[in-house]
Amino acid sequence: MAPITNKSTDILSAKVLAALGEYKAESSAAKSHVVRQKKPQELARAMQVANWIRNGGLGADNYEEFLAPYLEHSQHLHHPGFIGHQVAVPHEGAAIADMIHGVINNPMAVYEMGPSASVIERVVVNWMLEKCGWYTGDIDNFEANANNGAGVLTHGGSLANLTAVLAARAHIAPDAWADGTPEGLAIIAPAATHYSLARAVSIAGFGQNALRPAPVTDLDVLRPEMLEEVFEQASNDGQKVFMVSANACTTATGLYDPIDEVAEFCEKHNLWLHVDGAHGASALLSDKERRLMKGISRADSLTWDAHKMLRTSALCAAILFKDQKSMAGIFHQDASYIFYGGEDQIGFDVGPYAVECTKSALGAKLFWVLAMEGEQGLGAFVEKQYADTRKFYELINAQDDFTCPYKPEANILCFKYDGVDGNAAQLTLREKILERGKFYITTAEINSVRYLRLSVMNPLTTVETIEELLTEIRLLYP
Ligand SMILES: Cc1ncc(COP(=O)(O)O)c(C=O)c1O
Repeated sequence: MAPITNKSTDILSAKVLAALGEYKAESSAAKSHVVRQKKPQELARAMQVANWIRNGGLGADNYEEFLAPYLEHSQHLHHPGFIGHQVAVPHEGAAIADMIHGVINNPMAVYEMGPSASVIERVVVNWMLEKCGWYTGDIDNFEANANNGAGVLTHGGSLANLTAVLAARAHIAPDAWADGTPEGLAIIAPAATHYSLARAVSIAGFGQNALRPAPVTDLDVLRPEMLEEVFEQASNDGQKVFMVSANACTTATGLYDPIDEVAEFCEKHNLWLHVDGAHGASALLSDKERRLMKGISRADSLTWDAHKMLRTSALCAAILFKDQKSMAGIFHQDASYIFYGGEDQIGFDVGPYAVECTKSALGAKLFWVLAMEGEQGLGAFVEKQYADTRKFYELINAQDDFTCPYKPEANILCFKYDGVDGNAAQLTLREKILERGKFYITTAEINSVRYLRLSVMNPLTTVETIEELLTEIRLLYP
């Protein structure tokens, strides 16, 4: 094996970067497929994974032997036909931040391990808090202001939801950390809530029986006028409701729960209101779409993923709190090599406030996107994706052989092909679409009916793309 020199790794990096540029250009121009699924065993062989692990030797002369099949069988997010899961088509700014982090590797549980990244995280968090109405003043002014909220970036919305449940638990039962979670506490959330919240409930020691389903409409939207009844029923069953979780928006449909009305109920009963805005909180950046988040300033906590609608590569999510004191009691730990104890104000070490110890430079990814596009540019992106989705809805809904169950509020759109019968047939249809490789779409069940589902994440997806999709579906069933 040739010795690795700085020069040879530089050449390798340059070649890989060039290959990635080509990959992105081809995907964006729809010259490649979106996805070509191979069986895992075949794929492992095609990439020679075991061979490289055993023998090493991957370098500037032979990197293509690995990189070509790797890219070939990746999900091509830049392709206009990628209309699948809620994963950002990453902005090049986020990729640059990933590259910088990959070289300098400054993970930050403590400020001193990543001062620049820690500062960026704080400013980015302050910026997000400001959008919720939970921060006033300069976002880069670190002088303590007890009226401002606080938050932390997490590796994903699931950890953000877990952190919110733990914060709400610390609020209602401050001794739970030491004594364990008390029995009889309950959380109201619609059944369509993302599964990470249900998981968080069990991880936090409440058990699934603590989850009381909130009544919903036929489209799984929370009905605030029914909350009182659930609250009373829980009480009759010997449970004390302490938290309500609302969706902004729901994963399957992209429809928003009415936060303002839920907040009204929570304030009346002094309950913690968590809003899972992993996908839809980005509407806060658009003057036109902000109305969907009406009432957010009345919530106690918000989950907001940048790696969904903020063009940021995975992962970068935030858990934000209206009251900075909410962060203080979430975790308590002794780790003499890292924590010295006694911090009564939110410091620059994020370790005490996050599930993670080692944390990536998450804020830098979102920062680079913001720094290149500006907050208005990012708001315009969200607005365009929402507006495009409404256009796609108009197009699909106008067809005799397709049905849309609702008018989209966000960039998630469900529809079914009426040329085939039954739920299983929609699933088969999706399989066939994926096999052909021109589109990547998902499905969702709403009110026991299976629909095809689009998440319009890619700015290059146009009305023509959707017309082609409809044509393809019809060709599959001549
Ligand atoms: C509403 C909602 N909450 C939470 C999550 C989980 O976020 P993550 O995948 O970042 O852990 C998702 C993911 O799709 C989601 O849609």
